[in-house]
Amino acid sequence: MENKPLIGQPVSRLEGLEKVTGSARYAADYHVSDLLYGYVINSTITKGKILSIDVSAVLALEGVVKIFTHENRPSLAWFDLQYADMDAPPGTVFKPLSDNIIRYNGQPVALIVAEDFETARYASTLLKVVYKEEPFDTVLSQNLDKARAPKKGMSTPLKPPPPEPAGNFDKAFGKADFKTEATYHHGTEHHNPLELFATTAIYEGDGKLTIYDKTQGTINNQFYIANVFGLKYKNVRVLAPYVGGAFGSGLRPQHQLFLCVLASLELKRNVRVTLERKQMFSFGHRPQTIQSLRFSADSSGMLTAMNHCAAGETSSYEDYNEILSSWSHKLYPAANTLFEYKLVPLDLATPIDMRAPGGVTAMHAIECIMDELAYKLDMDPLDFRLKNYSEIDPSTKKPFTSKELKQCYEKGAEKFGWHLRNPKPASTKKGNRLVGWGMATGIWDAYQFPARAAAVLTKDSRLEVHNAATDIGTGTLTVMTQIAADEFGISADDVSFFYGDSKKPFSMFQGGSAITASTGTAIIAAIRELKKKIIKKIKEMPDSPFEKIPEHQIVFRNNSVSVQNRPDICIGFQDLIRANNGREFKVTKLAGPDVLKLRKYSKAAHSASFVEVEVDKDLGTITVTRAVTAVAAGKIINPKTAKSQILGSMIWGISKALHEETLIDPNLGKYINANLGEYHIPSHADIPEMEVIFAQEDDTLINELGVKGVGEIGMTAIPAAVANAVFHATGKRINDLPIHFDKLI
Ligand code: MOS
Repeated sequence: MENKPLIGQPVSRLEGLEKVTGSARYAADYHVSDLLYGYVINSTITKGKILSIDVSAVLALEGVVKIFTHENRPSLAWFDLQYADMDAPPGTVFKPLSDNIIRYNGQPVALIVAEDFETARYASTLLKVVYKEEPFDTVLSQNLDKARAPKKGMSTPLKPPPPEPAGNFDKAFGKADFKTEATYHHGTEHHNPLELFATTAIYEGDGKLTIYDKTQGTINNQFYIANVFGLKYKNVRVLAPYVGGAFGSGLRPQHQLFLCVLASLELKRNVRVTLERKQMFSFGHRPQTIQSLRFSADSSGMLTAMNHCAAGETSSYEDYNEILSSWSHKLYPAANTLFEYKLVPLDLATPIDMRAPGGVTAMHAIECIMDELAYKLDMDPLDFRLKNYSEIDPSTKKPFTSKELKQCYEKGAEKFGWHLRNPKPASTKKGNRLVGWGMATGIWDAYQFPARAAAVLTKDSRLEVHNAATDIGTGTLTVMTQIAADEFGISADDVSFFYGDSKKPFSMFQGGSAITASTGTAIIAAIRELKKKIIKKIKEMPDSPFEKIPEHQIVFRNNSVSVQNRPDICIGFQDLIRANNGREFKVTKLAGPDVLKLRKYSKAAHSASFVEVEVDKDLGTITVTRAVTAVAAGKIINPKTAKSQILGSMIWGISKALHEETLIDPNLGKYINANLGEYHIPSHADIPEMEVIFAQEDDTLINELGVKGVGEIGMTAIPAAVANAVFHATGKRINDLPIHFDKLI
């Protein structure tokens, strides 16, 4: 029977059964003997110094093994070095327990290690830390006078500064007949994946560790631990076969990893450190931002000038940056542009990427001001986008490798029924509710990182592929299996993908919606190399019928090697292994983006979202009743897992627009709703039926597979579409997210 191609098929998650039956093990689930448990103590002040730590009551408690503080921690060479993880922004990485300085509320100041978790946690209540407090600043809007350009550093190539100004913005905007200006404020959002951050370190002796860690990057964390503790790379193995969500929070090694390894090496014991839910609010977060925009158009509806000034929060020690003010010019042409991006250092933990970092924040502002300008022009918001549609990237004047945004607009609008919309705000009623329809555009980059894969035809004629990438719940295992099976002409049942292990060939962390392009391309490259090796062997076999056959006519299909149009010539994988004296075939291959070719192009995934809301006239409560997102992201390897990515990001987009925000008390410098009871996320009742459409987008340039990644693009248009729908329902522009009912009454 012919193996059917799997790319493009809605294959169910291969690890689904393990996940729903609870047999999948996460970082804190491993049964390890002689295990000690660590509990992290967080600073209760925001800025200042630790004057003293009284550990006597902690150590007197039965079951407590040790407490680590800055006073007794080992002196690591790293404390005086600049080494940081692969995702570190410019600045000086935070080094837990290195000194007595408090830089932010919630900073780890000690680790209590005990025979069980409960004892360690209880012991934390007995610890007495005396601090000397200093004045601090934690609120972005109160500190805009400190805004400055971000420092350049390692992350600069991936997060370049905004483009230079073009034309004369002030002049063009000044004389424009149609113009809008508005300021958009976003509060803090904290990562709350289902799986809490946790590390289980198994002490193997001789400076050797096996570490189960919640991370998006096994090799990033392996390098970090080896460099920080002065261990050999080969002696540090980081495993993350299952990751219960992360979306950016696991791009950098979190502090529980450092503290767990420190304890394990010092005590020469197996140690586990798990954070509690409230401690999820003590590290990286989506930063507070303030964006001021001014857009203008001529009477035909063509944009003439665009200005986007953005300020984001960072910490006192690192310059977290994201691409914030550059996006409008990747979509819309305007002769006069002025883009600025500044950072304000505050006494908070360094922010960290959160799903579509920068992109979702910026697109909210851009697509809301576009909506407002469309109203000034008396144009339909969708027609206004189409009027300013650009086939090329206006900011670089380069063509896109592909751009099917128009299809997204058309298919999304059709599915939603956009043409039935009555443009007048507050004109459509349903009982006591005002109904509003809004739309917005989404855009995200299409990254590819270098990756290495191993491909093996095993002795029992199965295909194995190996790469260190994680699967943070996106469906990576399934997608890579599909890619490998098709490339080798083998059934998916005969393919094993080994991943989530720093011992495997190189992968960057799973971020930027890049892993399918990165690891997928490496797998293709490795399998092609494997095929070459096999063909060479076949041709060398005595009396080989393949000897004179040109290589391009030799095909791999149905678990065998054969020749086009020559059904008589065929060798099954089992005979092949026999001919190889029972030995396996193995290759490894590195693949990366074709930088020389791609220099000539711009690359991006696009989307369009259409949203219906109902707003209670008296109470101001907002319900999203319908949402459609159409996505153009190149080839969709697996429409089922890809759809899940888009649905998940749409939910998060609704959450960002209407629910999520961590509030900081400026007098205490701490988040006051650091729990899931008060940090609002949507429940089932908040989420409507949603539709996902994938545009047909054939991209022969972007990479071997023609994929752009679907992890983030589905989120980028939603907040603006919701806010525009709220305006259409009520006639009120609420530019601060999240939009809560109190802002409408
Ligand atoms: Mo994503 S925010 O790059 O994990």
